[in-house]
Amino acid sequence: MGLNLKSRKVLITGAGDGIGRALALAFAKEGAQVAVCARSQDRLDSLADEIEGAGHLFVSADLGKAEGVETFHKNVTQQLGQVDVLINNVGAILKLANFFELTDQDWEDSFQINLMSAVRLTRLCIPSLKQSTCSRIINISSIAAGNPQEVFPHYSAMKAGLSNFTVSLAQTLAADKILVNSISPGPVWSKSWEDEAQKSSSPEQTKKEIMQQTGETIPLKRMGMPEDLTGLALFLASEQSAWITGTNFTVDGGLTGNPF
Ligand SMILES: NC(=O)c1ccc[n+]([C@@H]2O[C@H](COP(=O)([O-])OP(=O)(O)OC[C@H]3O[C@@H](n4cnc5c(N)ncnc54)[C@H](OP(=O)(O)O)[C@@H]3O)[C@@H](O)[C@H]2O)c1
Repeated sequence: MGLNLKSRKVLITGAGDGIGRALALAFAKEGAQVAVCARSQDRLDSLADEIEGAGHLFVSADLGKAEGVETFHKNVTQQLGQVDVLINNVGAILKLANFFELTDQDWEDSFQINLMSAVRLTRLCIPSLKQSTCSRIINISSIAAGNPQEVFPHYSAMKAGLSNFTVSLAQTLAADKILVNSISPGPVWSKSWEDEAQKSSSPEQTKKEIMQQTGETIPLKRMGMPEDLTGLALFLASEQSAWITGTNFTVDGGLTGNPF
């Protein structure tokens, strides 16, 4: 199956680590030209050292703020000129806390990074996506959207919003042949999990325990790795997905398909 992604211009938010980083490496391997962002310049530099191909763009920007989204988009416009694929990947739990521990500010912060970053960047990219012969938007949601968790109600609610937004946007952009879909990962080992493990007195042991205990709850008996998401994203970005829009794809090792 030819994905034909060579020289396609692909924007990926939150790509210094985790799923976004794996996506950037995978698209570049297929010959695409990627534009990525994160706040930490160090992680972007390390990605720049590892990535295949040339002409990629690495922008330090905070997508939790409107100005950060504008900075990223401005750099893309000036240096890449065109957008074929937009992957709204950035997102974060920010605070593991139950309803009574969350403040208005916690809800607001969650709203900005998990939903408004995608809304704002999508709005800015639509004129360019309209010029592309194969334009795609892929939103990285979460199984938490449909399976809300007591320990992060704010994040679950925002991801539900992102999945919902995906469907209305797909309808809005269908006439322009801009296809919009979402991917909802289950537990994937990434920086946020690593940061939690680092808080313990023996991070390596804690990491092993989390991976084992979480893996046990999943029919395929392991946590996901960021690379587990790349095949589907490459397919959705390609011409092969030409009759798929407004759909959410769950990638979770069978977790949500097995409630018992
Ligand atoms: N990992 C999971 O188990 C899981 C499960 C379901 C859904 N997801 C979703 O998948 C997506 C990727 O998650 P992940 O776990 O792979 O992430 P991750 O490893 O925590 O990496 C997040 C990336 O986003 C960047 N980032 C965070 N806040 C940012 C901001 N305000 N502005 C710009 N960049 C920012 C981080 O870099 P800086 O800190 O340097 O900015 C980092 O490069 C998220 O939307 C997440 O909600 C993850």
